[in-house]
Amino acid sequence: MTDLSQLEAELTAAAAAAGDLAALEALRVAALGKQGSVSGLLKSLGAMSPDERREMGPRINGLRDRVQTAITERKTALDAEALGARLASERVDLSLPPSPRRKGSVHPTMQVMDEMVAIFAEMGFAVAEGPDIEDDFHNFTALNFPPKHPAREMHDTFFFNPRPDGERRLLRTHTSPVQIRTMRQDNAGAPAPQFTPPQDPPIRVIIPGRTYRCDSDQTHTPMFHQMEGLVIDRGVHMGQLKWTLETFISRFFETEGVGARFRPHHFPFTEPSAEMDIQCDRSGGELKIGQGTDWLEVAGCGMVHPNVLRNCGLDPEEWQGFAFGFGVDRLGMLKYGIPDLRDMFASDVRWLSHYGFSPFAAPNPASGLS
Ligand code: DAH
Repeated sequence: MTDLSQLEAELTAAAAAAGDLAALEALRVAALGKQGSVSGLLKSLGAMSPDERREMGPRINGLRDRVQTAITERKTALDAEALGARLASERVDLSLPPSPRRKGSVHPTMQVMDEMVAIFAEMGFAVAEGPDIEDDFHNFTALNFPPKHPAREMHDTFFFNPRPDGERRLLRTHTSPVQIRTMRQDNAGAPAPQFTPPQDPPIRVIIPGRTYRCDSDQTHTPMFHQMEGLVIDRGVHMGQLKWTLETFISRFFETEGVGARFRPHHFPFTEPSAEMDIQCDRSGGELKIGQGTDWLEVAGCGMVHPNVLRNCGLDPEEWQGFAFGFGVDRLGMLKYGIPDLRDMFASDVRWLSHYGFSPFAAPNPASGLS
């Protein structure tokens, strides 16, 4: 029988003397591997008598544990030596340029929304929001669309399948229903939680949000964004509407005195109604805002129709209001020279990194204006 103490002394000395990890691993295999010397001793226990086994079992197992410990300790020491050597020999070169990382960017639509909100906030407007899934009442009826109005049957409105009670929900075709939600201060029949904080007049809100119409070409996408405005107070008149929109346009395009004209138009929810055009120059194939003799439509607007006020429990003899609606993506296309609206929602990272904005560039609503 091998002398156990001698074997242990040899193996632990060899472990302590192992010069590198490879030598240590060779030692481990020779002692503890399948064919190893210590493993052989463990196997020999099977052939012993119970008495012998009772005596030798603990001795051989103790040997195995101490050899294992010696190997582990040496491995820890060798690892630390190797790390120390690397730390001593390697240098971090701080002058090397970092490897490029793909950065995210702010989508132009979100940038434009932030700019618009910042400008209107300075004028005293609060932000209100409502659900994308609307009912007929908020999207049409309360906004004074007559029952047979073509917009109701518009082939470009996305309707959901009728519910058992016959009601047809829809994806809102404009942000105007949030006017109703704001003025009514209720959530009657709303399919989603009301986002708009309840308010008594006077009301001064802007309403940014997604809107939907079944339409797709260079200037139309099935989903797009609008920013609605609503002011309700006593003695409100169209001159204030005109000032508000003209001031906004000058700040947004960072150009003082952009010419504007208000063309008579029709919307069921305003009377009188107008479309706002702004001055532009299209000569030379480039669009310049605030110069030249051409016009570009940017918003619908008007004085809130008395029926809309009544539908919201407000007395038109006491309260008046004006409202307006901008196409957000459209304003972004104009300001940042984006030729095709559809690209805005195609999620092409090359397009996004070209037209996107740094999240750290805060919108500056008053830049260039005193
Ligand atoms: N809701 C209209 C649309 O989507 C835009 C609009 C026009 C909104 C006139 C208004 C407004 O608030 O007064 O075409």
